Order: sequence, then structure tokens, then C-alpha cells
Amino acid sequence: MAATNLFDPIMKPALTIILTSAALAASSLAIVVFAESSKSGPGRPTSSLRNDPERVEHGRYIVHQVGLCIDCHSPRGGEHGDFIEEKHLTGSELPFAPTVPMPDWAPAAPHIAGMPAGWSEENMVHFLMTGERPNNMPPPRPPMPPYRLNRPDAEAVVAYVRTLTPATQ
Ligand code: HEC
Repeated sequence: MAATNLFDPIMKPALTIILTSAALAASSLAIVVFAESSKSGPGRPTSSLRNDPERVEHGRYIVHQVGLCIDCHSPRGGEHGDFIEEKHLTGSELPFAPTVPMPDWAPAAPHIAGMPAGWSEENMVHFLMTGERPNNMPPPRPPMPPYRLNRPDAEAVVAYVRTLTPATQ
């Protein structure tokens, strides 16, 4: 019988205060979340896909053994044209050319170690899933393959690429 009724007239003001502060807390949380999300975008690498070792390893597998990104994007050297281990994905002249006229052919693959300059992680994930570059840039020229990776694979490639050190020169 003496159980407190939250809707008792005496309790009402207290309840209103509780609900108001809950609403205030929720809205300030929303502001924080919004501020965080507005930090992403071109030129501002978002979170940290690279902090998950399993994802990074899966990305390395795709880059080195499935998509073979290294065949075009990694420089070679020495007597036998081997890859220079510490320079993977730092860009290279292509060691091959088309046998028929291809006016659009790109003679070199750019530096993408770390991430292409000015791209966010999400820009790169989107590119690997759709072939679309950010900022309305035209699609890359051949022989860059138009990949259609699924999101987990695209995120894994980005995670791995983010672990590589961009070349300094
Ligand atoms: C057969 C060669 C080849 C392979 C394999 C290849 N690329 Fe490329 N990639 C290129 C070339 C050439 C360009 C430049 C195209 C241009 O200049 O228009 C390029 C462009 C890019 C760009 C655009 C960079 C920018 O700044 O606009 C990204 C990102 C990229 N490649 C990522 C990858 C990834 C990741 C893989 C593997 C999953 C890969 N590429 C595999 C040749 C290749």
C-alpha cells in the first residue's frame, strides 16, 4: 500500500527533472557523436581499421595474393626485378605495356601506401567496392582493374594499406 507511485503528484516534479536531464544528456551525446562523424571525410583519415590484426592480415592476403595490387603498385629493384620489401605500394612505372593501341593507358601506378593523399578510409572502401573515386574524379585509367570487393574485404585492404609507411620522397 505504501509503495511509491512515480506518478504521485508529489513525485511529478522530481520525475520531470530526471527526464529533462536524461534528455539533455542524450542531446549532448548526439552533439558529441555528430562532432566526431563530421571529422571524417577527404583528407581526414577516420578511425582505425588498421588496429585489428586479423583484418590487417586478411588485407595483406588480398593485396599480395588475390588482387595482386603489388604487381603494379610496388616498385622493383636489384638484378632480378624483385619487389623492394619496405617499399610495397609506393608506386611504380608499369613494367609492361599494351600490345594494341590504348590511348587511355596509364603508364604508372600511383603511390597508395598509407592511403592515397587526401582520401579517407571510407573513400577507399567505396572505391574498392564500386570503382568510384572521391570528389567526382573520373575513374582510374586501365590497367587499374575495376574491383567490386565486398565491404569486409574492402575494409581489410584499407586496414593493410594504412599500416604501410608512405614514402617520404
Ligand atoms: C594491373 C595493374 C594494377 C593492379 C593489379 C592494381 N592497380 Fe591500382 N592502379 C593502377 C594504375 C595504372 C593506376 C593509375 C590510373 C590512372 O592514372 O588513371 C591505379 C590507380 C589506383 C588508385 C587510385 C589512386 C589515386 O590517387 O587516384 C587506387 C586507390 C588503387 N589503384 C588501388 C589499388 C588496389 C588496392 C589494388 C589491389 C586490390 C590495385 N590498385 C591493383 C594499376 C593497377
